Amino acid sequence: MKKKKIAVLASGRGSNLQVIMDAIDAGYIETGEIRVVISDNRDAFALERARRNGIEHLWIDPSVYDTRREYDHAVAGELEKRQTDLVVLAGFMRILSPDFVRRFYGRIINIHPSLIPSFCGEGYYGGRVHRAVLDYGVRVSGATVHFVDEGTDTGPIILQQVVEVKQDDTVESLAERVLEVEHRLLPEAVKLFCQDRLRIEGRKVYISGDGAR
Ligand code: GRF
Repeated sequence: MKKKKIAVLASGRGSNLQVIMDAIDAGYIETGEIRVVISDNRDAFALERARRNGIEHLWIDPSVYDTRREYDHAVAGELEKRQTDLVVLAGFMRILSPDFVRRFYGRIINIHPSLIPSFCGEGYYGGRVHRAVLDYGVRVSGATVHFVDEGTDTGPIILQQVVEVKQDDTVESLAERVLEVEHRLLPEAVKLFCQDRLRIEGRKVYISGDGAR
């Protein structure tokens, strides 16, 4: 099978990027390769991780574009130059414009640190997600990998896993346990995509093949 060309968009520390790179190096993802890592943040550690792994990395500075649409257009241009098959949002802190999403629909996946449709949508990012989970008093949270559509965290769900919320959890302790789950789910979703095993039908994602959930 021909290898899928993956682009990872990341704004921060890039631990999810790291686990994808590791999964490729370990042969867990056999039919994918990261062609480029793009960040909106010059200081993102994700860029440094890409550099250490010998992967092309670009900082695309949002301040030189007047609108989100123009910025996204520039990003899309870089992705198309590299014939990107899959765009992975791994802690990318910008909401993508509808034009961008339409252009790549079915080929963009995102990881979110809660069980969508709870604790997601505009304003729910980073520690804020876990703060809201703790304040609400729910007993479980988790992580979700989903295809991106034009809404915020509303696209078809690929994988989810539950994480127990403990009575003495803090934002940090819960974030840490959820992150462990993210690090398992994201490489799995990338692998499934790269094996052509995901099919979207309306809101649902069907997983084909042996061992499908
Ligand atoms: C993760 O918690 C992810 O769910 C969210 O942003 C965080 C990124 O972490 N979208 P990292 O940069 O991959 O370490």
